[in-house]
Amino acid sequence: MRVGMLTGGGDCPGLNAVMRAVARKGEREYGYELIGFVDGWRGVMEGDTVALSVETFRGSLPRGGTLIGTSRTNPYKEDGGPEKAMATLERLGIDALIAIGGDDTLGVASKLFDQGVHTVGVPKTIDNDLSATELTFGFDTAVQIATDAIDRLHTTSESHHRVMVCEVMGRHAGHIAVWSGIAGGASMILIPEEPFDIDAVCDALVRRHAKGNFASIVVVAEGAVPKEGTMTVQSGETDQFGHVRLGGIANALVSEIEARTGYESRATILGHIQRGGTPTAFDRVLATRFGIGAIEAVHDGDFGTMVALQAGQIVRVPIREGVGEPKLVDPALYHDVAATFFAG
Ligand code: F6P
Repeated sequence: MRVGMLTGGGDCPGLNAVMRAVARKGEREYGYELIGFVDGWRGVMEGDTVALSVETFRGSLPRGGTLIGTSRTNPYKEDGGPEKAMATLERLGIDALIAIGGDDTLGVASKLFDQGVHTVGVPKTIDNDLSATELTFGFDTAVQIATDAIDRLHTTSESHHRVMVCEVMGRHAGHIAVWSGIAGGASMILIPEEPFDIDAVCDALVRRHAKGNFASIVVVAEGAVPKEGTMTVQSGETDQFGHVRLGGIANALVSEIEARTGYESRATILGHIQRGGTPTAFDRVLATRFGIGAIEAVHDGDFGTMVALQAGQIVRVPIREGVGEPKLVDPALYHDVAATFFAG
């Protein structure tokens, strides 16, 4: 049996750990031949492949990124894209295809399954916003990196008596912001789920500083938005899946905070640092469990499913359940836990 694998969308610490587990069990236990498609769906459409084996992934557990490359190519946005992808799979005699990716990559895997391709999905995103799974690998690593950064911002913020605005990733959901903000002791956390009122943000900072606090940290998710008509923010170009390139809300906030409060403020945009480098132990374990679960699904012929973490167990759910609506931050975590410390 020939099993294809691809990694699509933004890279994520733990991708190599997933593939290593697939290779280990697939090759050693089931005797499968493994083929990697280079740069996600682009490799499938263009037939760009690389042979994979247990050997390929030696030493790859601590390695960030993906050894087989990734892209945001969407076959459904290319002329004859799905047909090209299916022709490649047919030509190469691929019996099953494991797609490791987020909403977009898995959305393509789901559509191809509906067209007869034997796909199995593995959920991936540092944003942790995929439905059907309680956690995605990469999230724990991103939270740790953001928390380390916030810890460092505290001392420089206190030394200069400044407001530091730290922007973290999180396009549709503020999981990274909430977790790193709580862990790092932020004065305020702004997330996409709760449009913010810039007046209320500044008032809270003024109240906090009046209490004798001389420095504040505001953690903001890149996808956070002001309440309509309260502040202008810029928007950038879009990719093949129609996503606007984000990044920069921290700069807009700094200008507003300085203008309204007079407090000297600075922006730190963590950006891709949150995605690069070695995965935490937690993410390596979760990724390994997902990889084992995915190759078992292939072995059972349980196609059109994706592996997911539910109540601590690796389960299988239809891919379509994992895509579409993002998993948002639990309002209780935001309002009851995080907000207890806001500007206090
Ligand atoms: O993987 C999701 C994500 O991390 C988003 O939070 C972010 O907006 C996006 O990737 C940016 O990715 P890129 O710059 O690689 O397109």
